[in-house]
Amino acid sequence: MSEHRPTRDQELKARARRVIPGGMWGHLDVKRQPPGYPQYFERARGCRMWDVDGREYIDFMCSWGPIILGHHDADVDAAVRAQAEAGDCLNGPSARLVELAELVVELVPHADWAMFSKNGTDATTVCVTVARAATQRRKVLAARRAYHGAAPWCTPSLIGVTAEDRAHIAHFDYNDPESLRQAAVEAGDDLAAILVSAFRHDLGRDHELPTREFAAAAREICDRTGAALIVDDVRAGFRLHLGGSWELVGVRPDLAAWSKAIANGHALAAVTGSDRFREAASSVFTTGSFWCASVPMAAAVATLAKLRDTDGVAHMRAMGQRLRDGLATQAKSHGIGLRQSGPPQMPLVLFEDDADLAKGTLFCQEALRRGVFLHQNHTMFLSVAHKAADIDQALEATDAALKTVAERFGAA
Ligand SMILES: Cc1ncc(COP(=O)(O)O)c(C=O)c1O
Repeated sequence: MSEHRPTRDQELKARARRVIPGGMWGHLDVKRQPPGYPQYFERARGCRMWDVDGREYIDFMCSWGPIILGHHDADVDAAVRAQAEAGDCLNGPSARLVELAELVVELVPHADWAMFSKNGTDATTVCVTVARAATQRRKVLAARRAYHGAAPWCTPSLIGVTAEDRAHIAHFDYNDPESLRQAAVEAGDDLAAILVSAFRHDLGRDHELPTREFAAAAREICDRTGAALIVDDVRAGFRLHLGGSWELVGVRPDLAAWSKAIANGHALAAVTGSDRFREAASSVFTTGSFWCASVPMAAAVATLAKLRDTDGVAHMRAMGQRLRDGLATQAKSHGIGLRQSGPPQMPLVLFEDDADLAKGTLFCQEALRRGVFLHQNHTMFLSVAHKAADIDQALEATDAALKTVAERFGAA
């Protein structure tokens, strides 16, 4: 490509700057990723994605989580086509709503009921509202730095947010039962809910699975005080365990928020809950013009049934482990200190001595040049469409990328 000729991506970015504030918003603003990352994409299939300039990538972001079976999964596509033909946005829901709620209640042990919306933020917000309605209390405890969405009560940015929006949100440290107990004591008899992520997946720091001790402490406080235990399974849901991520630590929540992977890329979120919260859930007013659209629900039924019938979770875990083992071997051979954390199917890769992310940035840029799409400090995602050959091809690129990091920064 000639130096004077802009790429399509550059052209689109220039046009966007004129008609879209800042050119792009939120976490999808490519300015948050290493220079050279594309902002615009053209198409995707399986675990591969093509940008608007025709460059192909093996994708380890899976659209930031939603793509769990792979892009254009044949079974999901067939369900989507059939539903689109029949009708999507109708005067009310189709039978898919009931079928999907039945399937979710069958798969998720704590769930006696389910409700649906569009985004993860809708789901976490509904959970908090239902908890407050059921308990007639106000205080919600959430882990410091945990992400639960972009509404004023939980967005990480305080720009445009009032102190009143946050008045009844208090904090504790994830995996620290003592700090959770202390926060509960401070909330006193106004404690409505404890809100926890499936695991600690804060941006830019090593991910941590919940300890059994921490999960049990959260359950015990809620049982003793009558507050709701809410698990935010928006990011991890259906990747770690089909029944909910805290099944792995033997604790069941009262309410849970889901979205991302539930419909393999179609816009859908869910709230599940136990019978104790059924009446409150039916009393709050919550709705949206598109919340009952039938195509995403048909996609969700097909997605969840396929994950159940094919043990997709085990496959993703195995592929994530293959990637993790390969990276560990490569890092060792190049003398690089690499920290890999999170469950294998949702990996985070950080470098030792890399406070300014210079190593992580170079690693991602070098991998990208070789057709592998990674993230330098956010949870990444495996899908069922990642096969051993894809992982091995990606590892060829990461080996070269790690070599470049070692040459530039020396062994660590
Ligand atoms: C744990 C968690 N909760 C809530 C959300 C918000 O979901 P959404 O962006 O769909 O509103 C996210 C999104 O990344 C998330 O990771």
